[in-house]
Amino acid sequence: MVSLVALVAACTVQIDETEQKINDLIARMTLEEKIGQMFQVSLDNAPNEQILQVVREGKIGSVINVVNPEAANMLQKAAVEESRTGIPIIFGRDVIHGFKTLAPIPLGQAASFDPQLIHDCARMSAVEARSVGVRWTFAPMLDIARDARWGRIAEGFGEDPYLVAQLGAASIQGFQSDGRLSDEQAIAACAKHFAGYGAAEGGRDYNSANIPPLLWRNVYLKPFEQAVDAGVATVMTSFNDNDGIPSSGNEDLVKNTLRDEWHFNGFVVSDWTSMAEMIAHGVAKDMKDVALISIKAGVDMEMVSPAYLINLPELIKEGKVPEKAIDNAVRNILRIKCRMGLFEKPYVNTSTPPAFYTEESLKLARRAAAESAILLKNENHLLPLSETQKIAVIGPMADAPHDQLGTWCFDGDKTHTLTPVGALKGEYRHINHVYEPALAYSRDKNTSRFDKARRAAAAADVAVVFVGEEAILSGEAHSLSNLNLIGVQSELIKAVKSAGKPVVLVVMAGRPLTIERDLPYADAVLYNFHPGTMGGAAIFDLLFGRENPSGKLPVTFVREVGQIPLYYNHNNTGRPAPDKVTTLDEIPLEAGQTSLGNTSFYLDSGRDPLFPFGYGLSYSSFEYSNLILPDQMPANGTITIKATLKNTGNVAGTEVAQLYVRDMVASVARPVKELKGFQRVWLKAGETKEISFELGISDLAFFDQDMIRKTEPGDFTVWVGGDSNAQLKGVFSIPE
Ligand code: NOJ
Repeated sequence: MVSLVALVAACTVQIDETEQKINDLIARMTLEEKIGQMFQVSLDNAPNEQILQVVREGKIGSVINVVNPEAANMLQKAAVEESRTGIPIIFGRDVIHGFKTLAPIPLGQAASFDPQLIHDCARMSAVEARSVGVRWTFAPMLDIARDARWGRIAEGFGEDPYLVAQLGAASIQGFQSDGRLSDEQAIAACAKHFAGYGAAEGGRDYNSANIPPLLWRNVYLKPFEQAVDAGVATVMTSFNDNDGIPSSGNEDLVKNTLRDEWHFNGFVVSDWTSMAEMIAHGVAKDMKDVALISIKAGVDMEMVSPAYLINLPELIKEGKVPEKAIDNAVRNILRIKCRMGLFEKPYVNTSTPPAFYTEESLKLARRAAAESAILLKNENHLLPLSETQKIAVIGPMADAPHDQLGTWCFDGDKTHTLTPVGALKGEYRHINHVYEPALAYSRDKNTSRFDKARRAAAAADVAVVFVGEEAILSGEAHSLSNLNLIGVQSELIKAVKSAGKPVVLVVMAGRPLTIERDLPYADAVLYNFHPGTMGGAAIFDLLFGRENPSGKLPVTFVREVGQIPLYYNHNNTGRPAPDKVTTLDEIPLEAGQTSLGNTSFYLDSGRDPLFPFGYGLSYSSFEYSNLILPDQMPANGTITIKATLKNTGNVAGTEVAQLYVRDMVASVARPVKELKGFQRVWLKAGETKEISFELGISDLAFFDQDMIRKTEPGDFTVWVGGDSNAQLKGVFSIPE
């Protein structure tokens, strides 16, 4: 008979052999040990004897939130050396946009439209987290977010399924060492929150989603399917219900779609107590019911709540749950533990001290922050500033080491944050400047220092006003119904502008804010989604032109919160609004006026957003011309779309060239435009390059009324340009 230890040792051999070994291992596990693998417990202190004993009994498969190597090793020793099965624990932690060194929040990273950068940031996070024993991160978040009231818009890659899918896959590759999950510096990724969590009604976190079947498949599930293709090790079920079905109990979603259709063979973990919360949702009467519903749906591991631990033994005894279902769940969990090399290398190496905030990681964080900033306005080429100009540095976000890190800065240490004011004490100390915070923090309502700020601006050549949101205002459970700059920050901007000097507005926020009312008082606007550890230096790199802005909006910026949801890839109405719509002020006063054209828009905020998806300026200017594409998609199912891109400015710069497509007539209404490709193109001043995009027939596929995915023949319009309002267009068709 093969010993358990020998079975465990064999876990690294080829996949089919691994499956065999896992089966043998399962055959020798008691029911309690199996159910133990399906339980994740939260610990943040050194484990006490009671916990260690539970681990020795094989009743804990995973631990969340231990980031202390000694504590991790103590627990691991109890599991590996002192339990009967010797199965190691998988340690998880939310490593969202960095562990110690923090890159911009994911929404900021998305603005780079740079999969390689996102990959590298995930690698950096993995290396740092792994050095203290974290083996599994709960990232990336792949929720499509089209409502900036939702605080967790900060954690994802924006509103577009193609962009989210591409960047999500890059992030997974980064965390998981490009498919080498057993690499010593890899951590397992987790595609979350499956699914529809970003569509929380009204943007109120945890709220119900109401996503109809075609939108569900064509938009919300798309990034998850690609995550599975990218080899993501785990998937997390979300808190929300969609149309009455909570995700942790959604058999169609987890079992039918994720497992049977996409062939996902990693494991599924519930979100924090989301299984138990099905009682509050009103679909389970008690914890036993919870366990029954979730195991049927296909959830393998329960995060924190003990429904499985307590109830599965009885449910099996009663014959309500077959033991086979437990074996399947355990098999999924052990498969990932094996692939990660957890059996061979269960311990944290404490002989080499972890290296945080290294020169390399700080450099990457700085580059990421620079690539993530979006230049929204630059009147009269105010930016870049000259390093000889005197600047007045004003505002609550100029020196906010914690807030600039954004949400999920669990492990990041704010004493390492380089704020703008910090950068002026270091690398930029030669800049002639005066600093006047004016407000202590973003919500501060005390205006008594505004006059001082105005005087500081008057005495300078240019005022740079740093405003935005504290970190606490976005992220989980931090939804807002008003998206104007919080507190009296708009008044501060006005006060500074009244000094008569040019004003540069630098925003640092966790979401797209409604800044239309602030624009008249700012000559230039540089928008940063919380930029992380090196944000301050990166912002000055951009303001002084050492770097040229290249970020593009991964979400639509609305004028008014009442326009939400407003996203570029919507379906057409039967009555689309014309380019110019009547505004409230233009409505004639004569009696009897009843019609304003009967199209789809708001009388008060019009048809258009403040800034469209994909938008972002540069210190260069770019011109697109000469679109070349075939008339028809040939039999091999791929076309090449070419265009000429010219840097018509005076400095070198990077342009994010974007490809959009519309399926003109289909069996169901298709979006007015869909992003199908993007690339970052660096061009010297005056340089011209030919850019090209490949478009395949499957890129045009969608689910139809029968829920069948197919590409329908017909005409397609193609646009290539620098944002979702791209004007250069052509057509091609797919013959019958
Ligand atoms: C709840 C959050 O929704 C999820 O994103 C996170 O990973 C878990 N808590 C664990 O902290």
